[in-house]
Amino acid sequence: MVATAGTTEREGWSSRTAFILAAVGAAVGLGNVWRFPTLAGENGGGAFVLFYVGCVFLLGLPLVISEIFIGRTGQNDAVGSIRKVAEKSGAAKSWSAFGLLGVAGAFLIVSFYSVVAGWVLYYVGVMGADFVGALTAGEPLRGALVGESQEAIQGRMGDLFANPALLLAMHLAFMGVTLFIVARGIGSGIEKAATILMPMFFVLLIGIAIYGAFVGNMGEAVAFLFTPDWSKLTPQVMNTALGQALFSLSLGVAGLITYGSYIKGSAGLGPTSVTIAFADTGVALISGLMIFPIVFAVGLDPAAGPTLVFQTLPFAFQTMPGGALIGFLFFVLILVAAVTSSISLLEVPTAWGIGELGWSRRKSSLTFGTGAFLIGIACLLGYNVWSDVRLLGFWPLFAETDILDTVDGFTGKVMLPLGALFTAVFVGWKADRNLVEEMTGLSGFWLGIWRFLIAWLCPLAVGAILVTGLFPGILGG
Ligand code: TRP
Repeated sequence: MVATAGTTEREGWSSRTAFILAAVGAAVGLGNVWRFPTLAGENGGGAFVLFYVGCVFLLGLPLVISEIFIGRTGQNDAVGSIRKVAEKSGAAKSWSAFGLLGVAGAFLIVSFYSVVAGWVLYYVGVMGADFVGALTAGEPLRGALVGESQEAIQGRMGDLFANPALLLAMHLAFMGVTLFIVARGIGSGIEKAATILMPMFFVLLIGIAIYGAFVGNMGEAVAFLFTPDWSKLTPQVMNTALGQALFSLSLGVAGLITYGSYIKGSAGLGPTSVTIAFADTGVALISGLMIFPIVFAVGLDPAAGPTLVFQTLPFAFQTMPGGALIGFLFFVLILVAAVTSSISLLEVPTAWGIGELGWSRRKSSLTFGTGAFLIGIACLLGYNVWSDVRLLGFWPLFAETDILDTVDGFTGKVMLPLGALFTAVFVGWKADRNLVEEMTGLSGFWLGIWRFLIAWLCPLAVGAILVTGLFPGILGG
């Protein structure tokens, strides 16, 4: 750390590329590789996918620019950054309250995110052991889990869920790695992790996608993902798609405000944001094109839900040439993506503790990392000992959901859209226009488009989707 004139200089990215890698790393995660294919499958494919892509570019991209703008201008944690922009714009400082909503949201998300990443870690172990078995048997290119029945393979997930100690161990390991990286700080922690892991991720992604194109049923996958049946686009499906777009782009809970605050130099936010949105959406679509051809080739159900990746795919890999190896690499790929995202989530409350409470990075990351770990324990116990607990049981939307899905659903369907709504109104209506122009680097035509989207379309669309999605009765359905 460099001390200047008695103050300690705040940390920052070493270059624009470093920021982009870290931000793409934050965006690309379980949301892309696990959740997007799951939701696309459950919601009937095409219509959901196309509506999702519309959400990304009409609502998500303008919000990406807005969040980075706030962070870059504020040069502080989420709350401090919003306060700074409000100050410079002559708006009420109380706007910073939605930063706190974001801090709470990111903290809650990382708690269950680590649990799901723990399942992935377990499968890295399962598939890795199987691959080692294939190697020692002198058959490196055999299918996965050969000799096991479909029930046995699918039963592995049930066994994992019934085993709190195993779930806990995986959750602990994953949260430990996340905490370790965040505690090391921006330069030698988060940036370093992103510069190593992201290239690795893309090599794996392209490799497995090409493999899937050769061994799988690409035609059926493309038809499923891109042929819309608009009758399937109900308000709940729209709400799910919007929530997923926000989640996948790391929006709504101050993730990009926080990362944006570590930008030092000047750079146009337009191209940077477009890169993030394209990379994130590209990875989601490629993940779909990687998973569904394999699922269809074996004649399995695309609408399996959250177990698609953990039960359907491992079985599909059984019949694939080289399935043991590819199955293992597939879970490594998801794990890598999850790490670069979970560190961005934990960084949000960590930065807040440093900026607002005056804590050291070590103290702040340890406090929030431990807190999220404990909430995660409640989530994983919801699959076994606490399987009857319904946290928001009074709310019809969550009447049937276990603990993890309730925390996931509440953050995704309530906190994220709400945070996005506040961001849009704040940047679209309250932030000083000259400041916005100067700090985003946008001008002319694109500035006009972006202003229209952030001031009008985002608040209206996000507001409408939020209300109709949460209270389905409103439409008389
Ligand atoms: N975008 C990540 C994913 O798709 C999750 C995530 C990381 C996130 N940082 C975030 C979500 C900040 C919301 C806010 O897996």
